[in-house]
Amino acid sequence: VWADAREGSKHVAQTIALSIRQRQQEGEHIVLGLATGSSPIQVYQELVRMHKEEGLSFKNVITFNLDEYYPMKPDAQQSYVRFMREYLFDHIDIKKENIHIPDGTLPIEQVEEYCRQYDKKIEILGGIDIQLLGIGRTGHIGFNEPGSWDTSDTRLVRLDALTRRDALKDFPSEEDVPYRAMTMGIRSILKAKAIHLLAWGQHKAEVVKRAVEDEITPSIPSSFLQKHPNTRFHVDTGAAECLT
Ligand code: F6R
Repeated sequence: VWADAREGSKHVAQTIALSIRQRQQEGEHIVLGLATGSSPIQVYQELVRMHKEEGLSFKNVITFNLDEYYPMKPDAQQSYVRFMREYLFDHIDIKKENIHIPDGTLPIEQVEEYCRQYDKKIEILGGIDIQLLGIGRTGHIGFNEPGSWDTSDTRLVRLDALTRRDALKDFPSEEDVPYRAMTMGIRSILKAKAIHLLAWGQHKAEVVKRAVEDEITPSIPSSFLQKHPNTRFHVDTGAAECLT
């Protein structure tokens, strides 16, 4: 439990930077799993600061984003491609070919095979070393909505009504919020070697408690993280309010 999001985000950014530098010294790459949304923004800001002020290089970093709306054009205001460019990729020295974000422009008949290849690529590169997550009020991680099991891989999913309502702030009207998304599965996420979930604010308190302290259930997909041997929930005092 951190005093505030800023303090927690700084800590997580430092953890990531340390791992990047260690791998650099070994001449190895590192694979990061990344999230969008409001929760990781301050982590990205801190990483950008470290790049600009402390010479942190991302040349050995390979990234896989968790999800993307479907359908979604990369240059659309709400696309996760645009989000990642705005908050991270345009400000660091990562190689373009090392960035992976699910492609929201694919014809529907290609999506299944594309998702299979997404998981395969991660595996071939040695798996995700550090996975960043946010948590939705439905208990989702990525876009694994209630009903998602820990046997789920990267796939096309339907968004929960509450998730679509929460997304409305980014879209001109309700009809513009996509009904579907591509997301890494719970199984894909649980394969990561280390997981850092970020939750800031009182509006996340109830779902954090359910994910961390209640039973493991597909009704709260984030509860499957209880089975993972190296997961940390970083919360501020607001998001920690319901924890016993
Ligand atoms: C985004 C993602 C989602 C968000 C979650 C919380 O890539 O995977 O699971 O992390 O919806 O969103 P914020 O951080 O905006 O509260």
